[in-house]
Amino acid sequence: MTIQVFENEEQVALAGAALIAAELLQDPYTVLGLPTGSTPIGIYRELIRMFENGVISFAEASAFNLDEYIGLDPDHEQSYNYFLHENFINHVNFRAENVRLVQGLAVNANEECEQYEQDITDAGGIDLQLLGIGRNGHIGFNEPAAWFEKTTHVVDLAADTIAANSRFFANEDEVPRQAISMGIGTIMDAEKIVLAATGSSKAEAIRAMCKGRIDPACPASILQIHPNVTILLDPAAAALI
Ligand code: F6R
Repeated sequence: MTIQVFENEEQVALAGAALIAAELLQDPYTVLGLPTGSTPIGIYRELIRMFENGVISFAEASAFNLDEYIGLDPDHEQSYNYFLHENFINHVNFRAENVRLVQGLAVNANEECEQYEQDITDAGGIDLQLLGIGRNGHIGFNEPAAWFEKTTHVVDLAADTIAANSRFFANEDEVPRQAISMGIGTIMDAEKIVLAATGSSKAEAIRAMCKGRIDPACPASILQIHPNVTILLDPAAAALI
């Protein structure tokens, strides 16, 4: 686990984008795993800027997303499909057929999970998985639990996650109670992982992830045994390590 602490959120975003750009320059066919949330927005902004300046291209790259709420239409403003299109995909040159986002409106969510795993495998696996981290140590929607979920699966969201995400909805009752998430195994199968976190609300989760026991009570702690993971932090998120 390589931990890098930057001066501020902006520098974290530049570093995250630089790692992804380096991957694309080395392999234009890179398969990316993309998260939503506040943290990656700056990284996506910088990648868009690099694309507009002709530094990088996504013409041969592929994208999968980390997770999606169950029950939200992909056009719903709070769906993760919508978020990724608005904040990233619509602004660069992915080919539509190379973007596979997991669908929360699939008729059979469990079948969608299986199909999603198959589609990742058929794409040759994820080369670089970008991640944020929840205040409770979740990655994707893999919440603290008694075991690590291996593959893409249906999740009942933790109360803390519903509360944290309610800021994006009119009220807490509107936050979906279930989601589909890549499993911990899906994430760990990625060749490289880049996790970014900023702000003091993430400090305890970062401590547990980097210094705690590998324990499904802090799902991100499993990253300690991934062979190629880079953690990008600002000083507030790094305060307890
Ligand atoms: C997003 C996701 C979540 C977020 C985490 C942090 O696709 O899977 O695990 O990465 O909740 O969210 P932010 O970045 O909003 O603090």
